[in-house]
Amino acid sequence: MRILQNTPEFKPSEVVVAEEVIDSYLHDPIASGYYTLVAEIGSTVVGYICYGPTPLTEGTWDLYWAAVTREERGQGIGSALWKAAEAEIKQAQGRLAIIETSSTSEYENTRRFHLGRGYGEIARIPDFYAPGDDKLILQKRLR
Ligand SMILES: CC(C)(COP(=O)(O)OP(=O)(O)OC[C@H]1O[C@@H](n2cnc3c(N)ncnc32)[C@H](O)[C@@H]1OP(=O)(O)O)[C@@H](O)C(=O)NCCC(=O)NCCS
Repeated sequence: MRILQNTPEFKPSEVVVAEEVIDSYLHDPIASGYYTLVAEIGSTVVGYICYGPTPLTEGTWDLYWAAVTREERGQGIGSALWKAAEAEIKQAQGRLAIIETSSTSEYENTRRFHLGRGYGEIARIPDFYAPGDDKLILQKRLR
């Protein structure tokens, strides 16, 4: 929660939803349909990623949320979290990884990050989140 609350890209309403997802995972990891991995330096959590199989699909997985503490960004922690999540997804016979993100300038660094990890834009819904804020759907084929 400390990381999420200090992530300027996330609006307070988004932090609430991210917390609900973590709570759901912690309450019942199997029934929740969510998987969560954390990155630690020493015993301090410095990042996390949450993902899960997309309901009613064969082998499609969504990467829902991820964040790295601002002080530790740019050192490969986000990449390591993504790599670990993708390895787990492949292990579970996943074949397609999907990310939904915003087109706003606040997410420019994030978009650069995703493109650098092999994700490509496959769809855009104009004005989805708000007027002028499109939804971008990115995908990567894992097998
Ligand atoms: C996106 C995010 C998870 C990346 O984590 P990270 O640990 O900084 O990532 P890495 O160090 O592995 O990779 C850095 C890469 O991301 C890019 N990047 C994105 N934001 C960056 C930042 N604030 N500082 C440095 N590099 C950043 C760099 O271009 C770099 O690309 P390269 O490896 O091709 O040169 C992190 O910036 C973050 O928490 N962002 C805010 C929340 C968010 O957008 N989450 C994802 C959507 S839910």
